[in-house]
Amino acid sequence: EKGTYDHFMLKEIDEQPLVMRKIIEAYENEQNQLVLPPEILSATTGCDRIYIIACGTSYHAGLVGKQLLEKLAQVSVEVHVASEFSYNMPLLSGKPLFIFISQSGETADSRSVLVKVKEMGFPALTLTNVPGSTLSREADYTLNLHAGPEIAVASTKAYTAQIAVLAILAATTAKAKGIQTDFDLVQELAIVANAMEVLTQQKETIEELAHAYLDTTRNAFFIGRSADYFVCLEGALKLKEISYIQAEGFAGGELKHGTIALIEEGTPVIALDTQAGVHGAIRGNVQEVVARGANALVVSMQGLELDEDAFVLPHVHELLTPLISVVPLQLLAYYAALHSDCDVDKPRNLAKSVTVE
Ligand code: F6R
Repeated sequence: EKGTYDHFMLKEIDEQPLVMRKIIEAYENEQNQLVLPPEILSATTGCDRIYIIACGTSYHAGLVGKQLLEKLAQVSVEVHVASEFSYNMPLLSGKPLFIFISQSGETADSRSVLVKVKEMGFPALTLTNVPGSTLSREADYTLNLHAGPEIAVASTKAYTAQIAVLAILAATTAKAKGIQTDFDLVQELAIVANAMEVLTQQKETIEELAHAYLDTTRNAFFIGRSADYFVCLEGALKLKEISYIQAEGFAGGELKHGTIALIEEGTPVIALDTQAGVHGAIRGNVQEVVARGANALVVSMQGLELDEDAFVLPHVHELLTPLISVVPLQLLAYYAALHSDCDVDKPRNLAKSVTVE
């Protein structure tokens, strides 16, 4: 099943452009407009607040989804780690809608929240890659991620599929609420798919960067602001789980509040710069870490790039940059793990689906 690939993870990274196209196809009508079942749109337009519940990588996709739902559909969203939500439930709004994000649909931590939500009588929507999974069966509504089976333990194509489906949920909810936007998501996702394709063809460059920045290190930092911050959390998790390099993703503005103490000569710092509004601020953070000896690897987006940047992403809509900025981070993690002979597809201590709380 791996075909010519040595690892499922690399195959799944490469499948991402195709998954984007499958998602558009699955959710568009004959007029090329994105549509969702009316009962799902009644739920998103009729609630006063959305609570997104997920774990790990799916939680990171939820953080991006919050921004999409708030900016496009103007609905308040909270994102919670499922295990924490279970015993530390926030004060809920009057008409909540719960959205569970889960590649496997079997994650025990998320399942236990769904059981409580149903006991309280609140509606729930599950976004999953496995229709018919427990979280899908027990929720009122399901949206399929259409990513195809994800075999590697480290989640890649499910993450980008989750973000794309959340973007569709946000755009269709906005439309159902009569909110005017000049945002054509079908077109923007097609641009994303093409950009992903360009990125998956740059493996050699990224392998060299992994070699130069990560091969001999025990730790690494990922910094970004706004949407880039969420992707930094995911980039750090990918690197940790398959290469065992201790990695931390944090908001650029938080550096000076403590973490900068850890920067020493040669510490790799991977910085994302895809958001025009925080371009100056994140560049300031890069200068701060470089002044303290960091080995900075800047991943910027076309239009914001500087000559010294290690890697430049093709331009996509600012709300959708997580879909493409994550790709070089997935590949960096892959090559870092490969270079230290780690078991890429089956990292130690981890299971694909975590069915215990
Ligand atoms: C990381 C990873 C995990 C999962 C998490 C939730 O690469 O795969 O963090 O994202 O265990 O799993 P699902 O989405 O199946 O609920």
